[in-house]
Amino acid sequence: MANKNLNAAKNAKKDEFYTQLVDIENELKHYRQHFKGKTVLCNCDDPRVSNFFHYFSYNFEQLGLKKLITTCYKNQNRDLFSQNDCEQAIWLEYYGDKNNNRVPDPEEIGIHYFNGDGDFRSQECIELLKEADIVVTNPPFSLFREYVAQLMKYGKKFVIVGHQNAIHYKEIFPLIKENKLWLGYGFRGGAAHFISKYEDVATAGNHKEGMIRVSGVNWFTNLEIQKRHEDLILYRQYSHEEYPKYDNYDAINVNKTTDIPLDYYGVMGVPITFLDKYNPEQFEILGTSTMDMSKGAPYVGGKRIYERILIRRRQYGADCVPQSEQPHLRDADGSIQYPMPDTTLPLAAEDPETYNQTDRSCK
Ligand SMILES: C[S@@+](CC[C@H](N)C(=O)[O-])C[C@H]1O[C@@H](n2cnc3c(N)ncnc32)[C@H](O)[C@@H]1O
Repeated sequence: MANKNLNAAKNAKKDEFYTQLVDIENELKHYRQHFKGKTVLCNCDDPRVSNFFHYFSYNFEQLGLKKLITTCYKNQNRDLFSQNDCEQAIWLEYYGDKNNNRVPDPEEIGIHYFNGDGDFRSQECIELLKEADIVVTNPPFSLFREYVAQLMKYGKKFVIVGHQNAIHYKEIFPLIKENKLWLGYGFRGGAAHFISKYEDVATAGNHKEGMIRVSGVNWFTNLEIQKRHEDLILYRQYSHEEYPKYDNYDAINVNKTTDIPLDYYGVMGVPITFLDKYNPEQFEILGTSTMDMSKGAPYVGGKRIYERILIRRRQYGADCVPQSEQPHLRDADGSIQYPMPDTTLPLAAEDPETYNQTDRSCK
């Protein structure tokens, strides 16, 4: 049901829904070590309503940021979200707290006007992108392909929200396969509540006032996270009977990621949810059933199987990812190192309103 919402939003290009602060905090706590001395860009973010701006401006010192840039897209359709009705697109720059009150005051925030509408693809936005080290936002799902392509073109690090359908895009999957993009920690149960005026069709138990529930959303990133280097614990033994080969492809079928056999080193087809557990030191991604099985969908015994990702176990010491390719991750003894910042982050308020202590009106 919740996907109905998303599809409706996508069809109408309704991209106006906003990420909750608590979801941003839950994901970004795993990336703290990456932000020290960095310029962060949130380039799909009206600072008056974006919790990304709130998160980075209030945690500027704790993260040790160098600079925060936030750009606001001029909303073309004012009916969608009444707050987002700037006449002119703006961008903000923030260099941290100057008066030691630990709050980003209006006089500390530089407000600039765009000549254009603040489209992330415009030249003036690209100039800001060039300046950034890490891009963090929830971009419009309807422009996800273009959005990621631009990040790749300019070689940027990023943590962004997207829908898991994007995994199947012919522009996105190769990036996952080549270890240029992977899934972050994600939302609880793979579904998120976004702040929105759209009608929510979630069941009563899942409904939250003023929000829409969207299932199948995730974080996509190219920043190193610990999760990506944790082995999936395998416990099942391979047998011909339990793991039949596809009728139309030389690979065995595995119905659940947790059922991947520990003693099989040939090609396996696994559900898309595998990507959430993917450790490139443990597995190699070979392709997807749609892209690699010329005969269409995978079949077992004449029965059609859902789309699969084709993977193979890496044999440690043989074809595992050489440590030289991951030098920043491992210590001399092979243990993984994750430097943490000196200071702990304060718990931010869950209610974005409590952050809105300053008037950030457009003009
Ligand atoms: C899903 S919303 C998320 C907003 C915000 N990043 C957040 O998470 O709270 C996507 C935002 O992208 C903006 N947007 C749509 N098209 C855009 C474009 N071409 N360039 C920049 N921003 C755009 C929309 O106005 C919308 O606010």
